[in-house]
Amino acid sequence: MDNVYPSSHPLVSTKLTLLRDVSTEPKKFRELVREIAAMLAYEATLDLATRPIEVQTPLAIAKGHSLMERVGLVPILRAGLGMVEGVWELMPSAEVWHIGLYRDERTLKPVAYYNRLPVEPTVSVCLILDPMLATGGSAVATVDILKHWGVRKIKFVGLLAAPEGIQALHSAHPDVPIHIAGIDDHLNEHGYILPGLGDAGDRQFGT
Ligand code: PRP
Ligand code: URA
Repeated sequence: MDNVYPSSHPLVSTKLTLLRDVSTEPKKFRELVREIAAMLAYEATLDLATRPIEVQTPLAIAKGHSLMERVGLVPILRAGLGMVEGVWELMPSAEVWHIGLYRDERTLKPVAYYNRLPVEPTVSVCLILDPMLATGGSAVATVDILKHWGVRKIKFVGLLAAPEGIQALHSAHPDVPIHIAGIDDHLNEHGYILPGLGDAGDRQFGT
């Protein structure tokens, strides 16, 4: 499918394997989420625009680049929080805008509970951070919010997706690239990704 980028990096797949393991404790789980998020963000930012600049080395003037685009990281609460630190290591000047959504357990539809975006967009590109793309409802709702805010360049960065979620996000927003560490088989009757990794929020926060 167009605009879907499963990572083929061996470090991503080996860390994802550890992340899935039921015996991985929250501390290690959080570390892996952080590390994989950084590697995916590296892949997702390959096309960021730069402008040429010059810098003084100890010996001479060197030609270099600085980022032209203002990047916003948009973690979907709660589980997306754990991805922020890893990505921030790469882009310390990125703004972070939190979006609070939870899935209604019965309908599996996203319920919005936190959004403090200012009226005018302050960034030109947004990376949505959420470990899980299950039905796709939360990701679609977040892209809706960001487009309404006025951001045109939006990317989704996640750890695991179900084919159903990829289909839903791609159908609603075909312009949004999906960067993902792994694509699994299907959703179970409770909307969980199989084989998956369980509940990404609970496993990070020990709840
Ligand atoms: C999880 C996950 C996504 C959402 C994915 O959040 O972090 O946000 O489910 O499911 P979807 O693709 O079917 O919308 P959850 O609602 O469990 O909230 P939490 O992060 O607070 O645990
Ligand atoms: N949210 C999770 O945390 N895990 C899933 O498998 C699906 C949604």
